[in-house]
Amino acid sequence: MVCVKKTWLLLFVSNVVGVLVNGQSQVPALFIFGDSQADDGNNNNLPTNAKANYKPYGIDFPFGIPTGRFTNGLTAIDIIGQLLGFVEFIPPFANTSGYDILKGVNYASGSAGIRIETGTQLGADISLGQQIKNHKIIVSKIAARLGSYENALEYLNKALYYVNIGSNDYLNNYFLPQYYLTSYVYTPQQYAQVLINQLTSYLLDLHNNVGARKVVLVGVGQIGCIPRELKNGSCAEDVNAAASLFSSKQKDLVDQFNSNFSGDGTKFIYVNTSAGSLLDPALGFTQFTTSCCPTREDGQCAEGGVPCSNRNEYLFYDEFHPTQAVNNLTAFETYNGTTPGFTYPMDVKTLAQS
Ligand SMILES: *[C@@H]1O[C@H](CO)[C@@H](O)[C@H](O)[C@H]1NC(C)=O
Ligand SMILES: *[C@@H]1O[C@H](CO)[C@@H](O)[C@H](O)[C@H]1NC(C)=O
Ligand SMILES: *[C@@H]1O[C@H](CO)[C@@H](O)[C@H](O)[C@H]1NC(C)=O
Ligand SMILES: *[C@@H]1O[C@H](CO)[C@@H](O)[C@H](O)[C@H]1NC(C)=O
Ligand SMILES: *[C@@H]1O[C@H](CO)[C@@H](O)[C@H](O)[C@H]1NC(C)=O
Ligand SMILES: *[C@@H]1O[C@H](CO)[C@@H](O)[C@H](O)[C@H]1NC(C)=O
Repeated sequence: MVCVKKTWLLLFVSNVVGVLVNGQSQVPALFIFGDSQADDGNNNNLPTNAKANYKPYGIDFPFGIPTGRFTNGLTAIDIIGQLLGFVEFIPPFANTSGYDILKGVNYASGSAGIRIETGTQLGADISLGQQIKNHKIIVSKIAARLGSYENALEYLNKALYYVNIGSNDYLNNYFLPQYYLTSYVYTPQQYAQVLINQLTSYLLDLHNNVGARKVVLVGVGQIGCIPRELKNGSCAEDVNAAASLFSSKQKDLVDQFNSNFSGDGTKFIYVNTSAGSLLDPALGFTQFTTSCCPTREDGQCAEGGVPCSNRNEYLFYDEFHPTQAVNNLTAFETYNGTTPGFTYPMDVKTLAQS
C-alpha cells in the first residue's frame, strides 16, 4: 500500500470539520456485514471465545476502552465511515440503543463466515445469512419510521453496504480439518465455487428484496500470511492459493452485478487489499510477522497482557487482526483508491457521490 500520510490526515480533518459544518454524510446510511475485521461488539454477549471486549483490545480506541473490536483502535470500516462523514460510529445490531438506525447498523460477527457452520468451533457466531435476517428486522423498523416499505426502499437504494466476509470460511473451516469436513468433500476449486454461489444468493437477496444498490465487496486477502498461519516464518501458500481462487470469483461477481443490473443504479466495488505493499519503509512498519499483544493459545490477545508500545510499527495486533495503523491505510485506500487496483472499478468516494 502506498500512502501520503500528511495529505490523508488533512483529508480526515477536513472531512470531520465539513461534517460538523453541514451535518451531512455522503450517503444517508451505512450497513456493515462481515466478520471480526468489522465486528464492533456483536459478539460481546455471545457464548464464544471469538470476542474482543477485554483489554488489551481497544487500547487506542477513544478512552482506551475495549468495545469488541478485534484491534487496538479503530477498524477499517470505522475509519471509512468517518471519511464518509459519519460523526458517530455505526452501532452493532446487538445494541443500537441511543443510536439512529436510519444512519446504519453493523451486523458483523467475529469468527463468522458465509457458511453457517464456519467458526463455530469457537462458539456461537452470526453467519452472513443470519446477518441478512437481522438486517431485514432493521428494514421493517425503517419502513415503519418512513411510513411505508416503498419509502424505505427508496431510502435504502441510496445507502452504502459494506460486505467483508469469507476469510473464516478458510481459516475457521476449510483449513481446520480436525473440526470441519469441507476439505474432505471439496477440492479448493469446488469450495471456492460453493462459497461464491452462496455469497451470490445472499447478495441477490440484499439487492432484490431490500434495496441494496451501492455495495462494497471486500476480497479475501493473503490470509496465509497472518502470524497464525505462517509456517516457519513463510506464508502458508496452500491457504493463499485457495483463498485467491475465491477472491478472483468475488471480483467476477462484482462485474456480474454491475452488468446485469446496470439499469437500476446498481454499483458494486471490489476491494483488493493485496494491491500495493506495506513494506515501503516510508510507512514505518518494522514488525511484519509477530503480533503486538501477547497471545492466548488460540491466537487472540491474552486478557490483560501488555501489548507492544510501538503499535504503529506492527502489521498485526494479535495473530489474526491488523493494527489500527494498517486499518488506517486500508480505509484511506478504499475510500480514495490511490493505489492502482486497490478498488475496482471505482473507489468508495466516487461510489458515494454517484
Ligand atoms: C449499549 O450502548 C450504549 C451506548 O453506547 C451503552 O451505554 C450501553 O452500555 C450498551 N448496552 C449494552 C447492554 O451493551
Ligand atoms: C523450518 O526451517 C528449518 C530451518 O530452515 C528446517 O530445518 C525445517 O525443516 C523447516 N520446517 C518445516 C516444517 O518446514
Ligand atoms: C489483487 O492484487 C494483487 C496484487 O496486485 C494481484 O496479484 C491479484 O491478482 C489481485 N486480485 C484480484 C482478484 O484481482
Ligand atoms: C448475471 O447474468 C448472467 C447471464 O445471464 C448469469 O449467468 C449470472 O448468474 C448473473 N449473475 C448475477 C449475480 O445476477
Ligand atoms: C490513524 O488515524 C487517527 C485518527 O483517527 C490518527 O490519530 C492516527 O495517528 C492514525 N494512525 C496512524 C498509524 O496513521
Ligand atoms: C486521492 O487520490 C487521488 C488520485 O486518485 C490523489 O490525486 C489525491 O491526492 C488523493 N487524495 C488525498 C487526500 O491523498
